Order: sequence, then structure tokens, then C-alpha cells
Amino acid sequence: MQPTKILFVCLGNICRSPMAEYLFRDMARRRGLDAQYQVASAATSHEEEGNPVYPAARRYMQDRGIDMSGKYARTLTASDYAAYDYIIGMETRNVVNIHRLLGEDSAHKVTRLLDWTTLPRDIADPWYTGDFARAYDDIYEGCAALLDRLEYDKRRA
Ligand code: 4NP
Repeated sequence: MQPTKILFVCLGNICRSPMAEYLFRDMARRRGLDAQYQVASAATSHEEEGNPVYPAARRYMQDRGIDMSGKYARTLTASDYAAYDYIIGMETRNVVNIHRLLGEDSAHKVTRLLDWTTLPRDIADPWYTGDFARAYDDIYEGCAALLDRLEYDKRRA
């Protein structure tokens, strides 16, 4: 079976969406599902293009056993729409920008990460708030809910 392809998206692609990419991949690996998912992340802005993950985010993840040293920011492109099954923003602003960059979401691929949880809401940008613990907890909750839901749907299919 083809892997499910997921693209996480935020404004800069140096904090939240890389955290989601690496957390989701780690969760899938821990459940023995590595081969079932292809995960990546991208930015809606060009601001940080080519830059590594923001040091505070990298450190926070490293302290929890996840190494993000190979990740460099890249900007969302129109071809990403066909390439991914799920395109997942961190906050409403990302979703608005995704629609602006990718056009009409005819296949209903675009959601917000915490829309997959029982308490839909935005994930605040830790680049501005400095609150990496809050961002990590929200992203963890969203990734776990997403993985649970996708696996549940696969079993029912
Ligand atoms: P992120 O945080 O969207 O979670 O990666 C940001 C990082 C950088 C900028 C904005 C948000 N920036 O404008 O440079």
C-alpha cells in the first residue's frame, strides 16, 4: 500500500511545522508504522528559507530524544497540493495562506492540526511567545489525534 503523505505547514518552517513533522514521524516509528507515512513540512513565507530549525525548538526536541539537525526551511509550492494527501496548518492564518498559495482545496486536503482533536484551536507561534513547552504539548496532542484517526479510518476501510 502507498504511504499516507502528510505536509505540516506554518509561517516560517523553523518552529512549529518541523516540530510536528519530527514528532509525528517519531510517534509513527514507535507504533511500528514508519513505512506507512511520508511526512514533511513547509512554510507559507520565504522569510526563513534554507535556515535550520530555530535553536530553542531544536533544543526542546533534542531534550526529548528527537534530533532535528537535518531539517532546513522550505516554502510551500503549488506542486505540493498534488504531492500530499493531508496539508495541515498550525493556525487559521496558515490555512488562509495555504489557500492563497495552493488555490482551491478541491480535494479537502487542508486542515488545522488541532481540528483533529476534541478541542479545535490555533497553536500559538513560539517564535513570538517563547513558550516552546506549550507549542510542544499542543503539537503532540494534535499529532497523536491525527495518527489515531488515520489508523482508525484505515482499519475501517
Ligand atoms: P514558525 O515560527 O511559523 O512556527 O516556524 C516563525 C518563525 C519565523 C518567522 C515567523 C514565524 N519569521 O517571520 O521569520
